[in-house]
Amino acid sequence: MNIREFLTDKVQAAMTQAGIPAEYSAHVAASKKAGFGDYQANGAMAAAKAMKTNPRELAAKIVEHLDLEGIAEQVEIAGPGFINIHLNEPWLAGELQQCLGESALSVDKTTAPQTVVVDYSSPNLAKEMHVGHLRSTIIGDAIVKALEFVGHTVVRQNHVGDWGTQFGMLVAELESQAETTEAGIALKDLEAFYQRAKKHFDEDPEFATTAREYVVRLQSGDTKVLALWQQFREISLSHGEEIYNLLNVSLTRANVMGESAYNEDLPVLVAELEQQGLAVVDQGAKVVFLPELADKAGNPSVVIVQKQDGGYLYATTDLACIRYRVGKLKGDRLMYFIDQRQGLHMQQVFALARKAGFVGPEVSLEHHGFGTMNGEDGTPFKTRDGGTVKLAQLLVEAVDRARALIDSKGSDLPDSEKAEVARKVGIGAVKYADLSKTRTTDYIFSWEKMLSFEGNTAPYLQYAYTRIQSIFRNANVDPASLDATLVITEPQERQLAMKLLQFPETIELMVKEAFPHVLCSYLFELASLYMSFYESCPILKDGVKETTRDSRLQLCRAVAEHMQLGLSLLGIEVMDRM
Ligand code: ARG
Repeated sequence: MNIREFLTDKVQAAMTQAGIPAEYSAHVAASKKAGFGDYQANGAMAAAKAMKTNPRELAAKIVEHLDLEGIAEQVEIAGPGFINIHLNEPWLAGELQQCLGESALSVDKTTAPQTVVVDYSSPNLAKEMHVGHLRSTIIGDAIVKALEFVGHTVVRQNHVGDWGTQFGMLVAELESQAETTEAGIALKDLEAFYQRAKKHFDEDPEFATTAREYVVRLQSGDTKVLALWQQFREISLSHGEEIYNLLNVSLTRANVMGESAYNEDLPVLVAELEQQGLAVVDQGAKVVFLPELADKAGNPSVVIVQKQDGGYLYATTDLACIRYRVGKLKGDRLMYFIDQRQGLHMQQVFALARKAGFVGPEVSLEHHGFGTMNGEDGTPFKTRDGGTVKLAQLLVEAVDRARALIDSKGSDLPDSEKAEVARKVGIGAVKYADLSKTRTTDYIFSWEKMLSFEGNTAPYLQYAYTRIQSIFRNANVDPASLDATLVITEPQERQLAMKLLQFPETIELMVKEAFPHVLCSYLFELASLYMSFYESCPILKDGVKETTRDSRLQLCRAVAEHMQLGLSLLGIEVMDRM
């Protein structure tokens, strides 16, 4: 159960009974400070202002009608008209008890399921995936998992860059190497292949001519060139899949819907824009002027939809793509996880799609941008010699570093298990370091920080989880079969229980705002509260009553279950020991 929502309904009902018009909402939120109860309802002030009455008196009237029998132990009015709700401990314990062992814990399915189309990862297939693709890939995947978890129908879309002029050059290079090298081997290192093709193109005019011809032949559906293109695309996609597997990201081949897929719709779309009078010819190109996105001086924003030479652009493809997502996929909500620097592009595409009637007002169009991953010097993360860092290399290094760390701690696990732990810790560290930052800000990539066992890191959370598992091993108890009654007596137990019960509202916020860091902060706070509980509430010590011990074991179990589920929504794995 989502307690915030539950209390909101209760307060809202009391407001109605107190004669407050329905347009004034209850404004219930978890209290930020101790001493103000667990939740606070702030709606009385705004309502009183509009109704021209005394806010404290109105709050008192609401409280009179507020039915929280057996749920709250105290409801008080504070300051200018805040209503502070202190929840009842047995009720909290009962709620928590109910969710133990449940696969969704206390998270209910949404009552308003939507079809959500999520565009993420979407690398350019001409090159190897590099660190610039990390954020879109893992942030998108975390949101997708959370959306599905709460009951939405999610359609993943990997809008790969598999079309355009570069492919003429790449396909020509593939052909020229075919005599001596097998495609799979030639393309083993896509980055090096791209560099060779570029060099060839720059230095050999004959090759450059072929490359240009191939672009045209590709666009017109020439079988031979298409076959080469397909071969290239296939190999590049499988490189991407290796990364997705390593990253524990749920994208598959079935989710690939690249730029090439919209090729046929582009001329149709441009013709429609012209018919509507939206696209006009300007200096030989077809462009749309958008006064609604004018700059400060009043100049309209310009979107080129077809170049003078007939070629189409990134924006044209994205417009066709929107039509598909709304028309064929029936998306209610379209989410795009793309670098913030493409913000203007997305604004233009969205504005034009609405203006042209490709999308109705009922569909939500959302660009969820993100900042840059920077090196310690504050500029975009690069190799020592200034090159782009390949994602595959970065992930291998993460696992190697995690392995060295585990070895240095003198772990006595068998070798094969150590390797497994190193994989989970290394990959988890990279992902968590990224997901835990507010999406919209830049962040500094630091091996040292992300692999630390202290602070808001994956290893810290994974370690906290293993500590709980070791308690169960020491107690010789299988947590899944515990059926003891959970009782809250100590303040640390209460705080911990309250936090656990806030899991549903955390997920709600994460899904609404597309903010994975909300869940990360929650898990970190949960682990920290668990640590203080562990320090002040003995569990397996001599002299602890059996009922107390078992109740505390239930609390441990609840923490472990929430951590495991929370981390799995972020695509991060846990382990029983490390
Ligand atoms: N391929 C693009 C890039 O690497 C990202 C595509 C994002 N998706 C979209 N529908 N525009 O920058």
